[in-house]
Amino acid sequence: MKLSSTIWNRTEREMNEIMKEFQKIGIIPVVVLNDTKDALPLGKALLEGNLPCAEVTFRTDAAEESIRLMAEAYPDLLVGAGTVLTTEQVDRAVAAGAKFIVSPGLNPKIVQYCQEKNIPICPGVVTPGEIEKALELGLDVVKFFPAEPSGGLPMIKAMCAAYTKLKVMPTGGINEKNVVEYLKCDKILACGGSWMVKGDMIANGEFDKITHMCKEAAEIVKNIRG
Ligand code: 3PG
Repeated sequence: MKLSSTIWNRTEREMNEIMKEFQKIGIIPVVVLNDTKDALPLGKALLEGNLPCAEVTFRTDAAEESIRLMAEAYPDLLVGAGTVLTTEQVDRAVAAGAKFIVSPGLNPKIVQYCQEKNIPICPGVVTPGEIEKALELGLDVVKFFPAEPSGGLPMIKAMCAAYTKLKVMPTGGINEKNVVEYLKCDKILACGGSWMVKGDMIANGEFDKITHMCKEAAEIVKNIRG
């Protein structure tokens, strides 16, 4: 009993710190890296673009090593793992230096495993039932995924009216235009998106363009949130 309350308190602290960072950064770049050679130039571009965060998705073989490279080289970059579907991926991500885990759906096994390991987890939900499961698991921040196809901001506003303390990180279909309305909503902690780190820009080595687009995104956050 005593041990478990210690674990929970520490988990809550770690969660709070990361969630505060998410709120401050405002837009979380969701990254697909096909080649580890792109990890460091991308990390540099994100830092120079004032979006010092990367959700590196476990959709490619390059993800784990890319997390390791970025986390080691850039202590000021908040590097986490996305599209995490198994506890084994949680282990690999954490060992590589990931500071947070994002998963597309609400899998209680993954959530509890992350909580035991004191690694902040933001799982995806789209329904009130899933939100209530997340609340029961002790979470107060969830990803809303895929955001635009699932009803977007109107759905978040309608659904979250019932859950007054919940904060949401919508991801999926968010771009430089619709992000403005999302960020104005007080239910939104941060928005995830890939528009400023698109796969073709990474593959073409267009890191200056990525920095430029990150700066524009960071400016949107600053204009809305100050
Ligand atoms: C994803 O599934 O890759 C993320 O949700 C990002 O979605 P996006 O590419 O629509 O921003």
